[in-house]
Amino acid sequence: MTETRDLKGTVVVITGASSGIGQQTARTLVAAGAKVALGARRVERLFQLVAELGAENAVATKCDIRKPADCETLMQIAVETFGKIDSVIPNAGIGLYGSILDYSNERLNEMMETNFQGTIWTVRAAVPHLKKNGGDIVILCSISGFRSKKNQAVYAATKHAQVGLAIGLDDELREDGIRVTVIAPAATDTEFAMGDGRLPENLGKLGYMEPSDISFAIQTVLQQPRRLRTTEWKLIAMSQGIN
Ligand SMILES: NC(=O)c1ccc[n+]([C@@H]2O[C@H](COP(=O)([O-])OP(=O)(O)OC[C@H]3O[C@@H](n4cnc5c(N)ncnc54)[C@H](OP(=O)(O)O)[C@@H]3O)[C@@H](O)[C@H]2O)c1
Repeated sequence: MTETRDLKGTVVVITGASSGIGQQTARTLVAAGAKVALGARRVERLFQLVAELGAENAVATKCDIRKPADCETLMQIAVETFGKIDSVIPNAGIGLYGSILDYSNERLNEMMETNFQGTIWTVRAAVPHLKKNGGDIVILCSISGFRSKKNQAVYAATKHAQVGLAIGLDDELREDGIRVTVIAPAATDTEFAMGDGRLPENLGKLGYMEPSDISFAIQTVLQQPRRLRTTEWKLIAMSQGIN
């Protein structure tokens, strides 16, 4: 009989925890008994979340994932506070929806540095810690990591890059007992891309998924017995088509 792994006392690092899916994932995992170390740029929001979750369960620090040193600091704070790292969730990301000519080079570069390079810096900072006892890397990708369409070509390219990274890491890190999973949601009701191709009136009105739908999937990945791994999860609302 397959048994659910108990997350009580496990230590999970989450980037992009100041809103949306990352924030909800912190709440979900603490409710399941985990300790969380939270990173993002808007630290005041993180500290509010720590106050809500309790300092015995959560710690936070400013972390811009485009800076490798910030990612290393986040991992260090997790270890100093809770003694170890069991899992890391590279979740931070931004979305610019529009044609190939709609955004400046600088803004597109910000998205490429955040979604692609930032995921790499997060993983590189975490792996030395995860190698000690094995663990999980759960990358918040997108359904756009598996397909693409007009007005999201560059965003989708950054998400395809995450899938390529994850497939290689899965092959490389499995021998160290580290599982690598890609979570690929379709549209979800968060602040994501608001004003950058999505409008406030869209939110919650088009049958988007809730952040808790995604955090439920992340919790389920972490709770799987360690003898198995499920590498690619696509999450789509019943109200949405695949395109
Ligand atoms: N919402 C959707 O429809 C959807 C669908 C598929 C996939 N996703 C993916 O889900 C992930 C989470 O997005 P969300 O929907 O929860 O959006 P969100 O509510 O806008 O949250 C994004 C988070 O990323 C953080 N972030 C952005 N740039 C960062 C940086 N340079 N360094 C550190 N943190 C940074 C933000 O924090 P700060 O601004 O405080 O730094 C924020 O906490 C993203 O990777 C996104 O691509 C979202």
